[in-house]
Amino acid sequence: MNNGTGGTDQQSETRWKEEEYFYPSKEFTAQANLNDKTVFERFTLDKFPDYYAGFADMLTWFKPWDKVFDASDAPCWKWFTGGTLNASFNCIDRHLAKDANKTAIHFVPELEEEKTEHITYQELYVRVNEFAALLRDTAKLKRGDRVTIHLPMVAEAPIAMLACARLGLVHTVVFGGFSANACADRIVDSGSRVLITMDAYYRSGKLIDHKGVDDEACALAAENGQKVDTVLVWQRYPGKYSSAAPLVPDRDIIVGDELKKYYGVRVPAEEMRSEDPLFLMYTSGTTGKPKGCQHGTGGYMAYVTAMSKYILDIHPEDVYWCTADIGWITGHSFIVYGPLSLGGSSVIYEGVPTYPDAGRNWRIAQDLNVNIFHTAPTAIRSLRKVGPDEPKKYNFKFKLMVTVGEPIEPEVWRWYEKEIGKSQAVIVDTYWQTETGGFLCATVPGIAPMKPGSAGPGVPGIHPAIFDDEANILPPGSNKAGNICIRNPWPGCMQTVWGDRDRFVSSYFGRYSVSSDSKDWRDWPYITGDGGIQTQDGYFRVLGRTDDVINVSGHRLGSKEIEAAAMTVPEIAEAAVVPIAHEIKGAEPELYVSLKPGVAASPEIVKKVADAITFQIGKIAKCRNVWIVPDMPKTRSGKIMRRVLGAISNKGDVGNVMTLANPEIVEEIQKMVNNQK
Ligand code: PRX
Repeated sequence: MNNGTGGTDQQSETRWKEEEYFYPSKEFTAQANLNDKTVFERFTLDKFPDYYAGFADMLTWFKPWDKVFDASDAPCWKWFTGGTLNASFNCIDRHLAKDANKTAIHFVPELEEEKTEHITYQELYVRVNEFAALLRDTAKLKRGDRVTIHLPMVAEAPIAMLACARLGLVHTVVFGGFSANACADRIVDSGSRVLITMDAYYRSGKLIDHKGVDDEACALAAENGQKVDTVLVWQRYPGKYSSAAPLVPDRDIIVGDELKKYYGVRVPAEEMRSEDPLFLMYTSGTTGKPKGCQHGTGGYMAYVTAMSKYILDIHPEDVYWCTADIGWITGHSFIVYGPLSLGGSSVIYEGVPTYPDAGRNWRIAQDLNVNIFHTAPTAIRSLRKVGPDEPKKYNFKFKLMVTVGEPIEPEVWRWYEKEIGKSQAVIVDTYWQTETGGFLCATVPGIAPMKPGSAGPGVPGIHPAIFDDEANILPPGSNKAGNICIRNPWPGCMQTVWGDRDRFVSSYFGRYSVSSDSKDWRDWPYITGDGGIQTQDGYFRVLGRTDDVINVSGHRLGSKEIEAAAMTVPEIAEAAVVPIAHEIKGAEPELYVSLKPGVAASPEIVKKVADAITFQIGKIAKCRNVWIVPDMPKTRSGKIMRRVLGAISNKGDVGNVMTLANPEIVEEIQKMVNNQK
């Protein structure tokens, strides 16, 4: 499977057509939090690290920090040392004087007949304090202990996170849809003896039993040496237990019942050092088990607060909705910590965007008067596929929309801008990673023009560059692809891999670090693991993970280049390309596409796609086959599993597909591919 990615030469010609600029409206710019065009002059590299002091000033500190940046343990940088603060205090307590009665969280249950819950800052304060008391006194947790949280998209997720933060506990949120095995791995690696879960939740109109998964996770964790002695179970319907899994005596506690003991209890927010860890978030690496990315308190909070203000443009009166799952970094940084630190109103929706129909998202936006909408290209593509004209039926108006998580095809970007943004909203394509805590590249929405398919330049403070294999920086406009690296440290970056400093150093700095003893930050460029190109205007176009680049006869092709070309064919809804081993060329691309509703598969469409690729990129990108499939294999979070498609194309082992959202599709595609070859 690595045939398409082999070799280390990152330089290649790229043949991606340039797109036109879109400009923010005067109305948007006039109200933007950041509309000073000279901003980048304050964030030049010669002013590093002091330019980050302004980010820290957005927080409330118990004790002010002495030093912006400490490089003594390079490259495990420390930020705002000497200072103490509490993340929960910054997200809740500091807003009470002025905004106690303002909605902090709008919780929208999946069933439309159930009412939206509007949780004010005052109520959030009460619920977080009482739950923190339970964590401290019932679960006997103390500062520094790790706690695994395995919750669906419910208000109890941020409540649990903020209660942990209040006590100085390190939370590890595991995506609600993850399997028992994935959950167990994280329990073991983080050394959690307490697990927070819920009995059940709604998905696609069904009440899904959740607690059973956790019983299995605890059993697996115990087999691997980590005993969970307390499982705290929230109830989807308070007072009623909705899981078929029996409660385990002396281990399981129904949170609602236990909370009665803590009515009215207030828990002082622990005074944490800036560099104390706030949470772990696991993410997959190229090899080995998922890595626990450890994020700190002061640096992380300062970074996500500043990014929420300057890039998401959140104002106190805005209603902001990010559709990510809280179990991913986007949910942590940009549903919970960033927006709440700014005193914003954040929407949490329990279910799927198409339940009961494709208009659901737009009804939520209309009813709650949402004016900032944050989602991923996968969601945009599927909304475009199932209900292209749906947004028109509803009366909502977004001032700003966000896309995150993968490169967005220009065609899809334009649909998002026109149909969902109603040609009025500014779009920020935010490029970043679990590891980076917050944004790396994006256009500053009140200032910079947007370019479909490009994330934009580094955000203020971030100095990205394209490195070739010899660590030379390729200048903007070189038209060569290379490795996207960040030349300077920044406060949102992870501190280390939990329990594995060596893995942190080798994964993110190994290749380009000048000397392992250097204490000079200039010697430690951060490696994103993504390939990209920088155009003349300084914008970065992400081509995908470096292991997603396909090498055909020594020419490198970004998978995304081919997919974007296929997407220009009007009948195509989604496209995914995989490298297929080729004796002479090394690899050839093979393409899978799904069609928009009402379009029937035909040889004409296959030809149109093949022609579009030759037209957009050249013969070099010709695909061995174009398979029209009924649907793509997808993760529960909606990402297309290219790995599975690659295994099918290469007649390899598809591995365990039971955790996919639609495992049945794998066999169907396999049959199609095997029968026709
Ligand atoms: O390949 C890049 C892609 O997603 C990767 C990070 O994934 P994850 O850690 O799960 O975090 C997702 C949410 C931040 C990156 O290495 N990626 C992320 N955002 C973009 C992107 N690719 C292109 N454009 C983006 N805006």
